[in-house]
Amino acid sequence: MDLSIDVAGLRLRAPTLNASGVLGMSAPLLRRVYDSGAGAVVTKSLGPSSRPGHINPTVVEVDCGLLNAMGLPNPGVAEFLPELRELKREGVPVVASFFASTIPEFVESARALSEAGVDALELNLSCPNIGGEPGMCAADAGSVEKVTSAVVDASTVPIFVKLSPMVAEIAPIAEKAEEAGADAIVAVNTLKAMAIDADFKRPILSNVTGGLSGAAIKPVALRCVWEIAEAVEIPIIGCGGISNGRDAVEFMLAGASVLEIGTAVMKEGFKVYGEINKGIEEYLKEYGFSKVGDIVGLAHGRQ
Ligand code: SIN
Repeated sequence: MDLSIDVAGLRLRAPTLNASGVLGMSAPLLRRVYDSGAGAVVTKSLGPSSRPGHINPTVVEVDCGLLNAMGLPNPGVAEFLPELRELKREGVPVVASFFASTIPEFVESARALSEAGVDALELNLSCPNIGGEPGMCAADAGSVEKVTSAVVDASTVPIFVKLSPMVAEIAPIAEKAEEAGADAIVAVNTLKAMAIDADFKRPILSNVTGGLSGAAIKPVALRCVWEIAEAVEIPIIGCGGISNGRDAVEFMLAGASVLEIGTAVMKEGFKVYGEINKGIEEYLKEYGFSKVGDIVGLAHGRQ
């Protein structure tokens, strides 16, 4: 069965992508994601200059999920451009995730990344691990609108805006992103959380807190997708605890056109993309649907 789907004008061969976060800092790794069945790949978030991130420990497994506080380690946009060009030469559809602290930095990075030939940009406004940085403004609808609008004006490719679940109401923020010209909403980034080692009597992560991902946040992410789908017309990219075909279908029924998978890769390996695609296909066959798009938003009862 054909699992291809359009998202913001991009035709993807399958509705699964990797989630930016703990993976995606080299072309060969992203290539493996694509070779495992993903419809496109998403880079680790790139900043205007290189950044070492937090010191170890930066990742810890917790009940039903993973906590990470990487601190956005990355080589910087300019340094990563050759990796992006390599992926494009190999025919891999690439979404470049990026962040910045000021509007001019956002604009400069958006220009450089679109000129490198990426297929879309993912605006990361929602990393919970770098408290106080002005670019991480997903909780403030006005700032989301301002940054999105500047990036939309500066780039020639679709803009995906990645939002945080840590807000009282996510739908009005998604609406502001849409008004500013966003082409899709990514819902959602991780939830700020922590772990303590009872023997050492200290927080486990060097950063004390980290972003919780995986099965623990799936119902929260699903609710966010649902609420955003009620509020905007642009496509939604579901993200948060998707581990198998059934999870993927639930996000699509809630309104997601495509899905980002991160924590499940850490646990299951790269084969998870192919397996989730297969699970979606089996569901479509079981219920007599002919294409993936037929189930997007179906649970709202208004298709
Ligand atoms: C990190 O690098 O700390 C995680 C990235 C993110 O949550 O956006």
